[in-house]
Amino acid sequence: MRILQVSAELFPLLKTGGLADVAGALPLALMAAGQDARVLLPGFPAILAGVRELAPVAEFTAPWGPERFGLRAGRIAIDGAAAPITAYVIDAPALYDRPGNPYEDATRQPYGDNHRRFALLGWAAAQLAQGLDPTWQPEVVHAHDWHAGLAPAYLHFAREAGTTRAGSVFTVHNLAYQGISAPWNFADLGLPAPAFHMNGLEYHGQVSFMKGGLYFADRLTTVSPTYAREIQTPEQGFGLDGLLRLRGGVLTGILNAVDGQVWNPATDSALVQGYHTPEGRHMAGKARCKAVLQHQLGLAERPDAPLFILVSRLTEQKGLHLVLGGLDTLLAEGGQLALLGNGEAWLEQAFRQRAAAAPRSVSVTIGYNETLAHQLFGGGDVTLVPSLFEPCGLTQMYGLKYGSLPLVRRVGGLADTVVDCTLEDMASGDATGFVFDRFDAADYDRALRRAFALYQRAPDWRRVRGNAMRRPADWASAAGQYIEVYRQALESAGT
Ligand code: ADP
Ligand code: GLC
Repeated sequence: MRILQVSAELFPLLKTGGLADVAGALPLALMAAGQDARVLLPGFPAILAGVRELAPVAEFTAPWGPERFGLRAGRIAIDGAAAPITAYVIDAPALYDRPGNPYEDATRQPYGDNHRRFALLGWAAAQLAQGLDPTWQPEVVHAHDWHAGLAPAYLHFAREAGTTRAGSVFTVHNLAYQGISAPWNFADLGLPAPAFHMNGLEYHGQVSFMKGGLYFADRLTTVSPTYAREIQTPEQGFGLDGLLRLRGGVLTGILNAVDGQVWNPATDSALVQGYHTPEGRHMAGKARCKAVLQHQLGLAERPDAPLFILVSRLTEQKGLHLVLGGLDTLLAEGGQLALLGNGEAWLEQAFRQRAAAAPRSVSVTIGYNETLAHQLFGGGDVTLVPSLFEPCGLTQMYGLKYGSLPLVRRVGGLADTVVDCTLEDMASGDATGFVFDRFDAADYDRALRRAFALYQRAPDWRRVRGNAMRRPADWASAAGQYIEVYRQALESAGT
């Protein structure tokens, strides 16, 4: 099948969160499964710099007027991959050549012309499905998150006009970000007037790119089975649960996986010493990673102090006030905290203050640092992910794979990937971490204390760590599920 994946980010070229990890890994897994997958990306500076041998393919006209843009194609070489990914890139410097975050300006405000910047992404996808590149035409367009949400809408109307037969799949990575803007922006989108309707892009009088994807795609997916259920409820539906229930029959939750080329403690070049665990052995490297990490971060070099790590965007979603509130308990029990993250100013400030007050026990690195992220998973004992909501979550999966046991709330993909250390799940060999239910200090604290209690029982800790590290999490099985969804999309597009 010829599949065009459309996303705003792709690891290793441009990443602000888990979307990039998925967008980088899925095409490779599809290609490994024998599919003809390509990607389409906006020409952000990091993307133009990372795609090799870029050559012009065609020009096309903007949806909002006579302005013309170029489409180029090249290759993204990925370490360890059998073949490079073929990438189409939209050349639009006036829209994409801006420093920093792809979505926001320096004051963290969404760019005022985001509707144009990302309409163009969906539009270019639909142009490709209508023959913009005469040598390759997708049969299925797979759009990720609101940034690509208009692709299914454009395809729907192109199919009505008989100019394509491509099917569409839309994946929700995070319903909290919907790409909403003022109603007058609709005129820029090049969609027929009926699309601005409750049964379409209209959302409380405004334009919603997310709704465009949810309403018009042939098939919908999200990134875990639990989140697929949660978003159909008013509590977690962000105002779209009604539509999601209506479309529940075509919505599938497909759990994200881990790219073993990027995240593998046995081969990770960011670690001072690799490690792996056939039956819990060959773990000396992990102790060394911890010692070096403690040293590097200025923490007390104590092998016996459980090291809690946190690698995260610092936003409300991630439940970080629970971590702040529970920090006294964590320290009183003899633990250490190492955090890497950036985001909301008040959270950055609050964590910085805690590090300044206890530099030998709390390390806070504000910023984005891929290498340090790997080192934290490598050296950590516990990975904290106490999210309010979590569509899938990748850091808890990296924690599992690196034997840094996840402490998570039972929500979204966290509920689908971590098994609490209850006596029965320890006995059966299923336990992989610490799970709490209620989003409050008391429940979080109990999970923390459970982690400390297990840490005191070294043989049990090693056993649980072995379970965690052995949990299968490769992309092949997720890719198989996506291929099935693509087939369904193709089928429903053809009818
Ligand atoms: P989300 O996509 O909601 O941010 P995920 O857990 O799915 O959450 O993915 C987060 C990804 O971003 C992971 O690959 C994580 O390692 C990475 N990450 C988050 N913050 C940082 C940071 N400050 N430095 C390096 N990597 C980070
Ligand atoms: C989103 C979600 C996260 C998920 C990631 C990749 O950013 O917040 O839970 O893992 O997308 O699907």
